[in-house]
Amino acid sequence: MPPESAANSAITSVLREDRVFLPAPEFSQRAHIKSLDEYQELYRRSIESPETFWGEQAEKELVWFERWHSVLNWNPPLAQWFSGGRLNVSYNCLDRWLNTPYADKPAIVWEGEPWDQNKPAQQKTLTYRELHQEVCRFANVLLKLGIRPGDRVIIYLPMIPEAAIAMLACTRIGAVHSVVFGGFSAHSVADRIADSGARLVVTADGGFRRGAIVPLKKNVDDALELKDTRGALLARTVEKVVVVCRASNPIEMRDGRDLWWHEQMQSVPADCAATPMDSEAPLFILYTSGSTGKPKGILHTTAGYLLGSKLTTRLVFDLRDEDIYWCTADVGWVTGHSYVVYGPLANGATSFMYEGAPNYPEPDRFWSIIERHRVTILYTAPTAIRAFMKWGVEWPRKHDLASLRLLGTVGEPINPEAWMWYHEHIGGKRCPIVDTWWQTETGAIMITPLPGAIPTKPGSATLPFFGVVPEVVNDKGEVVPCNSGGKLVIRKPWPSMLRGLWGDPERYRQVYWSDVKDSYFTGDGCRQDEDGYFWIVGRIDDVLNVAGHRIGTAEVESAIVSHPKVAEAAVVGRPDDLKGQALVAFVTLKGAIKPDANLREELRQHVAKEIGPVARPDDIRFAEALPKTRSGKIMRRLLKQVAAGGEIKGDTTTLEDFTVLARLSQTDE
Ligand code: PRX
Repeated sequence: MPPESAANSAITSVLREDRVFLPAPEFSQRAHIKSLDEYQELYRRSIESPETFWGEQAEKELVWFERWHSVLNWNPPLAQWFSGGRLNVSYNCLDRWLNTPYADKPAIVWEGEPWDQNKPAQQKTLTYRELHQEVCRFANVLLKLGIRPGDRVIIYLPMIPEAAIAMLACTRIGAVHSVVFGGFSAHSVADRIADSGARLVVTADGGFRRGAIVPLKKNVDDALELKDTRGALLARTVEKVVVVCRASNPIEMRDGRDLWWHEQMQSVPADCAATPMDSEAPLFILYTSGSTGKPKGILHTTAGYLLGSKLTTRLVFDLRDEDIYWCTADVGWVTGHSYVVYGPLANGATSFMYEGAPNYPEPDRFWSIIERHRVTILYTAPTAIRAFMKWGVEWPRKHDLASLRLLGTVGEPINPEAWMWYHEHIGGKRCPIVDTWWQTETGAIMITPLPGAIPTKPGSATLPFFGVVPEVVNDKGEVVPCNSGGKLVIRKPWPSMLRGLWGDPERYRQVYWSDVKDSYFTGDGCRQDEDGYFWIVGRIDDVLNVAGHRIGTAEVESAIVSHPKVAEAAVVGRPDDLKGQALVAFVTLKGAIKPDANLREELRQHVAKEIGPVARPDDIRFAEALPKTRSGKIMRRLLKQVAAGGEIKGDTTTLEDFTVLARLSQTDE
């Protein structure tokens, strides 16, 4: 397939199903779940007697300091799993392996981005024993700095082992981490500090990305200076900033506030008892975009999250002791939490971590990593696969990818062409592909093939994981007929579900549990085919999925409107061959201000500064007025159509006039 035509396939082709791939018998024989019958039987049990099923799993999978007394207390929409139990996440990821043959097995194998043809790559390996020591040390640093159970810690680091160490150290002492993706701006850091009330920030002097240095510490400095509209400091709860020296990048260290990681680590012991935490103790907060307002702090708690991430990692990736498992996600996203750190380490696996971009120094960096590290499982995003297709098969062909035995995708629908390319050119037609559907809120994979058991159809995430009851419903909450589109809901609670939104219980009910009675609304559109397979279409709320990143249109709009020259803004998505969706902003300007190309670029940079480069609009279109309904609501559907019509050619600064269009279609949307 020529790369051009492959990359051109529109995301809508996700609705075309024409191939079924049966598990290879030699894979099934060794798999954890060996057949469709076995899956169906276990699934039936998990749904008919969820408490028995999950009780057995919790007993088998986790190490408890105190056993729970009830598996589930369900008072919709509030769930408590394994009430009365006490355990510790870092104990389950580290200590449990210490007196076993796993102690000297690599837990994390890391490669930094910098590349010099004449030198070996920057690499680091931490065995379970070494990782345990580092985590204990950093837990002691946190304790020394006064961090106590329940305190919030912001982690704003590049993809370096210290990110996992800091996360695990928090869990060791019961502190609640909130990891902020390194691509977010100072403003975003400040908002997250303010919302979570964090007392400490862990950052680095810089991180490498496509050959450049991301100035993380500088962003933290700026975040700590930002003021709200009343002139008060936004991020005023922060007392200490611990800085990893990663990039030898010159930074300012403020006396009394800023401390070097390596200096702190030298002065503390390498053991630290793991604090027994309640099953429902907050574990982490991860901010994610919603359809309104600022990002929401998704709250996950201890036992259910750990069980979900552990079990799915083993069964979905059919993990084995000898695997070198690589999930390419950044720890700033939920995929990095569940499938770089907690899931793999709770299974005693070797988790590979890479710091940088897939095309640095050349578009074959991933394939070179797979060859050199003998990676066996690769889990990445469709947007990356589409970029690889565009770059061409010559890049993977330069490398020996025979070590791979399983491939996964996550984050957005995968178009069948990208699935086939991945299957053929990366998986050598022998590796099963698991297309995994889940969300920050679900904590762990929810709809997915189990390799060896569930036949796959390119573009479908196939069937639900154990204990998960998804349905496709209409606005009244009734199940729609087979092959009709509808809303994807989850009917029953599951252990790794979010427990709420940090500091906003009412919004939790309203966002997730009010749309369809007693069901969790995912925000996704979906259909179920005649085999019961789920085909996720994508978001049907005002959330966009740009290159696998979740971006709220409302957030981008308020960032644009905060620019002094802007009167109003409306942001919509348009289909994009590479990124799935691209961001298009329609903007009206104040008074007599005239649009020009400079202002367009200024606004794009303004959004990058307010939120982060991931939210920078691909296209900004200036308008005289925005089309509105009689009640004054912006007609987004109309703007989506205009945006999907392609970029305007010629003078792109021309003002668009939607007044006529708006008058023609003035129905309340
Ligand atoms: O729209 C779905 C899409 O990503 C959204 C969740 O985004 P986030 O919370 O950032 O988590 C991403 C990684 C788990 C979902 O609502 N999505 C995720 N995986 C898939 C997907 N869409 C289709 N197929 C998938 N496999």
